[in-house]
Amino acid sequence: MNRDLLLETEKLARSWAQHEAAWLRDYLVAGVEDPRLNLQSILSRHFLIHALAQERFGLLMQHEYRFAAALDWLLCVARLGGDAEGRSATLHALRRRSDNAEGLEIPQFVSQTFADLPAEASGCTVPNYLETFLANEDSAEGQSQSIDEVLNTFSVTWNRVLGTHFPTTGPKRVRLAAEAEEGMPAGSHERPPVLSLLEPACGSANDYRFLERFGIARLFEYTGFDLCEKNIENARTLYPGVRFDTGNVFEIPASPETFDLCIIHDLLEHLSPAGLEQAIREVCRVTRRAICIGFFQMDEIPEHLVRPAEDYHWNLLSLPRMRDLFASQGFTAQAVHIGTFLLRQTGCPKTHNPNAYTLFLQRATGGHN
Ligand SMILES: C[S@@+](CC[C@H](N)C(=O)[O-])C[C@H]1O[C@@H](n2cnc3c(N)ncnc32)[C@H](O)[C@@H]1O
Repeated sequence: MNRDLLLETEKLARSWAQHEAAWLRDYLVAGVEDPRLNLQSILSRHFLIHALAQERFGLLMQHEYRFAAALDWLLCVARLGGDAEGRSATLHALRRRSDNAEGLEIPQFVSQTFADLPAEASGCTVPNYLETFLANEDSAEGQSQSIDEVLNTFSVTWNRVLGTHFPTTGPKRVRLAAEAEEGMPAGSHERPPVLSLLEPACGSANDYRFLERFGIARLFEYTGFDLCEKNIENARTLYPGVRFDTGNVFEIPASPETFDLCIIHDLLEHLSPAGLEQAIREVCRVTRRAICIGFFQMDEIPEHLVRPAEDYHWNLLSLPRMRDLFASQGFTAQAVHIGTFLLRQTGCPKTHNPNAYTLFLQRATGGHN
């Protein structure tokens, strides 16, 4: 690594190490960042499920997008989490198909979701979680246990369907659904039956926690790393048997194409332009098949807007520049603008972050697919 990247590494490590371990553990898994509701976390989980099961669970995935949009409206926009009266009025209005609950305007996408539940999808029943949420009479502030149970609707559902589809307990016995569909006996495919997964900048197992809870983690051989030791200590405390390492995305200690898949959230905007290029070179070098990256600051602008902020960066990244960078490393990008995706999938016209994008990257060269 050259001197500039070494210096940048020191600064990046310092900027995250200044925080308390408990804060690092909790700050990215609550509110709009809650990976049960955050669309980018959901898309990463779907990316992994899709790698195993292709289109099989498409309908259930669509229900999960609608769930995220509707719960986000109830909790973060209408703030009904601690408002038992508001919940009761909203339930009453939804049952009457009214678009107004004592002055609170109910958006069309929420009414439509209510009307469509319960629903059959991908071999399971999606319950009327809106009814359960709104019928809850608990008036405690914040998220009571019953609200948490509603938030867990899809972790219960995915555990059930993945448990049925991939009933073995360890990743060693998982085979690709494609093999099964082709009628091939388990293990007869040339590819290794276990998909390995890398997560750079895994934080305190922020997204990994939900891979576990949703029954996805057991289907992969997971490795997470982060530059911040406090994060890795948190992650190891939470999941002692899982591989979490202290590591630097500028220099990943792995041979080329070691990992089948890679997921990343909210890292690349924090790097200098040279750091960004090096990180992408490294991630592409060690990934054999496909990458899913969540960005919180991207736009369809010709050049990156580089914004140093104390010891790190808070850049607005250019989508065309990012496509070029990945193309130079042999990966083609499918870009998803989160606000547009939300509108198309759920009818919800508002997004918390108009600059959020997720990129799905597929290795285009090398003949490994
Ligand atoms: C905004 S947080 C995102 C954490 C997690 N991916 C999430 O979305 O919840 C950025 C993370 O990147 C890590 N990080 C920063 N520079 C890094 C580097 N060069 N290599 C590995 N991790 C790094 C930080 O320690 C921090 O945990």
